[in-house]
Amino acid sequence: MAQLPSQSIPTLTPESPPRLEVRSVSKRFGGLQALKDVNIIHERGILGLIGPNGAGKTTLFNIISGFLKPTEGQVIFNGQAIHTRRPHQIVEMGIARTFQIVKPFADMTVRENVISGLGMPIYPRWLALVQRYRTPATLQASEAILRLTDLTVWAEARAESLPIGLQRRLEIARALATGPRLLLLDEPAAGLTAAEAEDLAQLIRTLNAQGISIIVIEHNMTFAMGLCHRIVVLAQGEIIAQGPPEQVRHDERVINAYLGQEDDNA
Ligand SMILES: Nc1ncnc2c1ncn2[C@@H]1O[C@H](COP(=O)(O)OP(=O)(O)OP(=O)(O)O)[C@@H](O)[C@H]1O
Ligand SMILES: [Mg+2]
Repeated sequence: MAQLPSQSIPTLTPESPPRLEVRSVSKRFGGLQALKDVNIIHERGILGLIGPNGAGKTTLFNIISGFLKPTEGQVIFNGQAIHTRRPHQIVEMGIARTFQIVKPFADMTVRENVISGLGMPIYPRWLALVQRYRTPATLQASEAILRLTDLTVWAEARAESLPIGLQRRLEIARALATGPRLLLLDEPAAGLTAAEAEDLAQLIRTLNAQGISIIVIEHNMTFAMGLCHRIVVLAQGEIIAQGPPEQVRHDERVINAYLGQEDDNA
């Protein structure tokens, strides 16, 4: 597989993994308690976040990425409070995310979508035409990301014309372009065939091996169990179990809260 471009992905030594701390985070929407006293520490590796519909998984991603403020609690990244910051500041600090409902720039090509993640001017479109963003370094970085995510042959396709599996890869490609140290993936395998999901799992492993920490929300238990080093289980806004996949799989609270629904959600 291609290497990530060095100018967009910081090099990490084993001694300096990114460190995310979710401290006693609660979130209320009016009378609804979406998250209750959630505590998570994640450094290196691939952390799975699982739980039934409405458990609060996406809400937690929204809080970590600055789209929502916690009602209580703090989020600390590499020693700095980030729950008070805006989404673009959090991206600049090294946290990127994808969305459960994919949101590419529909009328741009795949390559332009990736370049937009590199922070280059895209709008108005004539700027693109005058090639201001097509510097050798930018093109090299975008090509490396396209190769890594297996999107090279689709580089000139309009994002909205892609099937869902490729749009999900494009989401990851765009996120990678911001040079994350921590990548949050919200149900990246949803709608994928088993073969596409296995390719995706391989991509996620490769990213992790290159020093990017991952938190992945997943409904498909088989996918999560095969991919993640550690799993946190949320149910009704609370962490009900966490640990290695094999331990979580056999936890009675998890079986009751989540696994009984697997047939509905897988
Ligand atoms: N902006 C919002 N305003 C009001 N309620 C919200 C908002 N966002 C989420 N909720 C509610 O908070 C709860 C948790 O939602 P969330 O989307 O975090 O769940 P989830 O675990 O991601 O579920 P799914 O597996 O279906 O994606 C749900 O009851 C949802 O309706
Ligand atoms: Mg969700």
